[in-house]
Formats: sequence, C-alpha cells, structure tokens
Amino acid sequence: MAKNQLRQISDFQGSSNYVVSRELMNAVNVAVALEKPLLIKGEPGTGKTMLAEAISQSMEKELIIWNIKSTTKAQEGLYVYDTVQRLYDSQFGEGDVSDIKKYIKLGKLGEAFTSEKQVVLLIDEIDKADLEFPNDLLWELDKMEYHIPETKETIRAIHRPIVIITSNAEKELPDAFLRRCIFHYIEFPDQEKMEEIVRVHYPDIEKKLLHNAMETFYRIRNMKEIQKKPSTSELLDWLQALVLSGVSVERITTEMPFIGVLLKKNQDIEALFNVKSRNTSSSGYGRWR
Ligand SMILES: Nc1ncnc2c1ncn2[C@@H]1O[C@H](COP(=O)(O)OP(=O)(O)OP(=O)(O)O)[C@@H](O)[C@H]1O
Ligand SMILES: [Mg+2]
Repeated sequence: MAKNQLRQISDFQGSSNYVVSRELMNAVNVAVALEKPLLIKGEPGTGKTMLAEAISQSMEKELIIWNIKSTTKAQEGLYVYDTVQRLYDSQFGEGDVSDIKKYIKLGKLGEAFTSEKQVVLLIDEIDKADLEFPNDLLWELDKMEYHIPETKETIRAIHRPIVIITSNAEKELPDAFLRRCIFHYIEFPDQEKMEEIVRVHYPDIEKKLLHNAMETFYRIRNMKEIQKKPSTSELLDWLQALVLSGVSVERITTEMPFIGVLLKKNQDIEALFNVKSRNTSSSGYGRWR
C-alpha cells in the first residue's frame, strides 16, 4: 500500500504531550490501516501505555483499557456470567431470574466490540498473564466476534477497535499470536529525543539544569554496574525534584542529589558511589540520598 494511501486511512502523528518517532508513527498507521493489533514492546517507562492514550487523544476516540494481571483470564475480556447474583435473586425473589441476559456482564473486549463508535482498546502488559492467555484470544482478535452460549448471542464488533497490546517481554508470546500482530519495539530514547520528551512535560525548564541532569542520567544509564537502569519516568521525576528543591545546577553533576528518585536498588546506589569515589575525590555525594 502506498504511503499516501496509508495516510488517508489514518494519520497518527503523536500528540501534544507524546513524542513519537517516525518508525513508531508508521507502525501505528500501518496497524490501523491493516486493522491488526499493534504489539508494542520496550523497556519500562518507554511510553508504551502512554502511546494508546496519545492515539486515543489524537484520533479523538474513546480509550478502553484492559489491565492484565498474573491472574487475568481471556474469558474475563469477553463476558462474565454472574451466577451468584442469579442464585441470590432466585432465593430472595428479586425480578425475573429466567432472563439470563441480565446476569451477563461484558468484559473490555465486549465493551470495545459493542461501542457505537470505533474505540482504541489497550491490552496493557499482556506478558503478565500465563501463556494460554494470548492463545485464547486469537480468534476473538482476528474475527472480532465471539459467542455467548448462555444467551445464544453473538457479539460482533460494530467497528473493529484499534487494538494496542503492550509487553515488557517478561515472557515470549506464542508464534501464532505474533503472526497476527504488527510489531514495534520502542528503543530507549537517545539524548536528543529525550530532550524533546522532557520539553513536552516541562516546557520552561532551565537549559543548564536540563543539560547537567541529562548528562548525569545517561552517564548512570551507561554504567555497566547498574542493574536497574533508570527510565524516562524516573528522569522526569528527578527533574521535578531538582526544580522544586532549587538545587544549584553545578551540584547536579557532582553530588547527584535525590539519587533515590533515579536508582531504586541499594546495590545500584552503592555501585554508583564506588565508581564515583574511584573517579573523583569530591565529597558531598550521598548527602541527599
Ligand atoms: N514518547 C514520550 N512522550 C512523552 N512522554 C513520555 C514518552 N515516553 C515516556 N514518557 C513519560 O514516561 C512515563 C512513562 O510512560 P509509560 O507509563 O507509558 O511507560 P511504559 O512503557 O508503559 O512503562 P511500563 O512498562 O513500566 O508500564 C509517562 O507517564 C510519560 O510521562
Ligand atoms: Mg505501561
């Protein structure tokens, strides 16, 4: 399909508060045009969840979020039959219990399929569930329909939702599932891209403060001794702490104040301290920990 044809079908270009790379923009537009789920992988904090919000915002479509937990089953996304309530009603006399429809509650997929307008459906952190989970949703995501035997009803998508699926790659997803998705890996932003991201959150941030904080942030990220590398959201929190505290910009590189906002593991803070004391003799590091 020619590029301008793709653009006619969908024209996602990021949003006022979400910075998007050209590759990610293309992946979104291809997925929308081909009506296939978009599977997004990437390190924590690389904007996977926020992408769905940005798509919903920029395309002016409602966002339905299905947060996946280790205990989530595919069935919950389709419908739940509340047999307990029905039994209760049959014993304590509330209404007509033969109307099973009353006790069927549609899940997030059902909500997305039956919506009068096309929606964006985010299936967030699919790798949290067991391996059966993606396999159990193959048919529903492909055909965008499912059957409810209790009511002999078929739920069919009025408009195929734009499906965004995120994964932290905790587990590999099954091949049959991958085959049905468009895939994009969000690379950790380089310094230039990161500056853009910071600026959408803090447009007025002082140049020197940002420069020193970014230099320190990437230096820490590039240290091989650090196990849990700080992410975008941690950088944003750190910048906020630096701005609010009014710390002098010079101290950012030397003392690394509020380091606990960036590093969450004792070993990492110690590793940083060890490297730093090997490299410099300046005192003061750690006072803000
Ligand atoms: N491209 C971006 N543009 C603007 N803000 C971004 C971008 N990427 C990340 N952020 C910021 O980083 C925060 C974390 O993003 P988000 O929660 O979407 O990450 P995630 O990849 O879903 O992380 P996790 O894997 O931990 O769920 C967001 O709240 C946002 O403030
Ligand atoms: Mg997320």
